[in-house]
Amino acid sequence: MTGQADQLTPEYHALLGIVRGYERSRAVTVAAELGIADLLRDGPRDVAGLAAATESHAPTLYRLLRALAAIGVFAEDDDGRFSLTPMGEYLRRDHPLSVDPPARMFGADYEWRAWGDLPHSVRTGETAAQHALGVDVWEYRRRHPEHGAIFDATMRTFSRADSARLVAAHDFGRYGCVADVGGGTGAVLAAVLAAHPGVRGVLADQEHVVAGAPAVLCEAGVSDRVTIAPADFFHRVPRGADAYLLVRILHDWPDDEAVRILRTVRAALGPHGRVLIVDAVVGPPGEDPLTKFLDLMMLVSAGGRERTGPEWQDLVARAGLGLLGSTPVGPTRHLLEAVAV
Ligand SMILES: C[S@@+](CC[C@H](N)C(=O)[O-])C[C@H]1O[C@@H](n2cnc3c(N)ncnc32)[C@H](O)[C@@H]1O
Repeated sequence: MTGQADQLTPEYHALLGIVRGYERSRAVTVAAELGIADLLRDGPRDVAGLAAATESHAPTLYRLLRALAAIGVFAEDDDGRFSLTPMGEYLRRDHPLSVDPPARMFGADYEWRAWGDLPHSVRTGETAAQHALGVDVWEYRRRHPEHGAIFDATMRTFSRADSARLVAAHDFGRYGCVADVGGGTGAVLAAVLAAHPGVRGVLADQEHVVAGAPAVLCEAGVSDRVTIAPADFFHRVPRGADAYLLVRILHDWPDDEAVRILRTVRAALGPHGRVLIVDAVVGPPGEDPLTKFLDLMMLVSAGGRERTGPEWQDLVARAGLGLLGSTPVGPTRHLLEAVAV
């Protein structure tokens, strides 16, 4: 056996860590589903109390929590009591940047089934979720409103986390009206309008999604400046805005559908209007793992893709638009500005 110990390099351990990554992800999701972080909000608790509150098997809940404490999500003291760490605070459901919705979305059973079908995608190029679920994820979430609500909450977390960079990167104050197409429950639009009191907004998304917007807009104090417009962006978006925002929209769709969305926006655009696309631009070979794994997420789940700079140019050109430029606004996001040509 001599010689093989020499091969226990950091790469061996790193690769095994990657292979077993799902264990940690799954454990965090279960803790989120049980609402453990909320139960720890007021201070440390023992497992007996946590198990009673979550109707769990106490010795097994202990094994889950001690594993999560070993990677910094919770802290375990010598008396077997658990408390929140700075990381675990993000699992609280009342945290403005709560990771509870992403933990429950990415770890949801239907997403696992989709990822389990990754081999199907790789063999055929088809969307794994569609194959595994029999419908696309949008239809699945329509049929399962509890999962739709978790998805919308995930988007709110992401929007709150990265809107500040978007707002700082572009002068939204020059517009009279900004339409957020596929704007979810309005967290991005709320950030834009809160920074620019002279700007009005239009929020366009599926009817059952914008139903959740009033509370978000009200909390941001911008409700009186927003028109909520249920819309199907494959058919029509409201006319008359000076800028059309598309945040994390086009990467959800294959090229032909993405072009259809852009053409709908182009049809609503005035002669001096701007199209503001916020999505990833794929980095060079061997770099940018966040975007390249987001691309796999799009392949498996929504059926879309992340795009390189030249791919973005081709895509917008097919919709009669031309790119003016692109600015990074986050680890997996660029702001791509386009106009009608
Ligand atoms: C990835 S989310 C992005 C939400 C929001 N822009 C953000 O960044 O937080 C994609 C959005 O597209 C919306 N969507 C999907 N199909 C749609 C359709 N046919 N018409 C309008 N909106 C749609 C979804 O409801 C969802 O809110």
